[in-house]
Amino acid sequence: KIRALEALEILDSRGRPTLEVRVTLEGGVSATAGVPSGASTGVNEAVERRDNDPARYGGKGVLMAAGAVRGEIAGALRGWDAADQQGVDRTLVELDGSPNKSRLGANALLGVSMAAARAAARATGRPLYAHLGGEAATLLPMPCLNVLNGGQHADSSLDVQEFMLVPVGASSVAKAMRVAAETYAAIRENLHERGLATAVGDEGGFAPNLPDNEAALALIVEATERAGYRPGADVAIALDPAASSFAATDGYNLARSRTGMLNRAQLLELYGRWVERWPIVSIEDGFGEEDWTGFVAQTAAQGERIQVVGDDLLVTNPRFIAKAIDERACTAALIKLNQIGTVSETVEAITLCRKAGWATMVSHRSGETTDTFIADFAVAMGSGQIKAGAPCRGERLAKYNRLLAIEAELGARARFENPFARYGRSW
Ligand code: PGA
Ligand code: ZN
Repeated sequence: KIRALEALEILDSRGRPTLEVRVTLEGGVSATAGVPSGASTGVNEAVERRDNDPARYGGKGVLMAAGAVRGEIAGALRGWDAADQQGVDRTLVELDGSPNKSRLGANALLGVSMAAARAAARATGRPLYAHLGGEAATLLPMPCLNVLNGGQHADSSLDVQEFMLVPVGASSVAKAMRVAAETYAAIRENLHERGLATAVGDEGGFAPNLPDNEAALALIVEATERAGYRPGADVAIALDPAASSFAATDGYNLARSRTGMLNRAQLLELYGRWVERWPIVSIEDGFGEEDWTGFVAQTAAQGERIQVVGDDLLVTNPRFIAKAIDERACTAALIKLNQIGTVSETVEAITLCRKAGWATMVSHRSGETTDTFIADFAVAMGSGQIKAGAPCRGERLAKYNRLLAIEAELGARARFENPFARYGRSW
């Protein structure tokens, strides 16, 4: 039973305030959770509450959200069974009362929801993935590592926000991480030799001034070979253009790469050419969050060839996911706990995807803490895919290292699969 809630204003990986929530149970067991924060957020995401006091952190303080945890939320949850995740989360959502969780703040709600799960796991002496997923939780996710950062995550010449390595040829997380880290090191060498910047962006990927998006694809393929791996067979590529960030009123403005304005059909064609030419297995948010027509067109034209993922389009919200299943707008959903605001609603979103035969990719945010909840969560849900940035920066490695620990702990029970096998082709 929950005895007390505490909340602390801490700093995330961008040096911006975020919440750390502690849940303490009556037996004295306690656990904390750190709340992440996005930069390229979807308009329909649950709202993270900020103080808007310009005198502190440019208005980004979270003291009011922390106050809500300590006051109103603590009052409502005292005595609740932390193991009753659905009951805890329902209480949080009802207490907030607003449609987008803006009253108490999705950051406050999620921190409590995650910390409650962790405290409940700790009380039973089980690891978090087993507490949330039971005995069946043995599938480790394929890591998708964002090694080149563009868009809103870096001041680079890349319109595409994320270029991810997918070690599709690996047979375990341990092997996948080795392939990814060696390829990442080869990218650094290549950039260094060319006199390009090797400083990293928000998610640990490099942010070089390459001529354009295709130069980034070429760089990944070259580095893959340099590291001794086969492009396509060992290392595939996943993209997150995060197209909402370059959507204009009358099309898409690929200004950073100087490609210029493209209409929906031209952008779809551009992706088609990339998919033919490079070993791409997944494209997320290839179109803007309001451009359902773009997503439907891409799923129809390229859905057999690549995974079509909705992030800003779906915001981990069962309502939008149901609509996208109906309209065949995607074949997979990106899963971010803080887009919807509680653990139970995130589970509901994943369950809906699974029923439709969709894949799910559990995701970090560009603003992160060293919290490793998503690693356990991906295993608990048997999600099969995770993205947590480059094999660089502590807050990114924390997630991957947690996966390595889970894999070791599961031992012979651990399973690992290539979720992109159906998109494979000789390249
Ligand atoms: P964000 O980006 O965390 O900055 O929103 C991640 C993504 O778009 O997938
Ligand atoms: Zn995205």
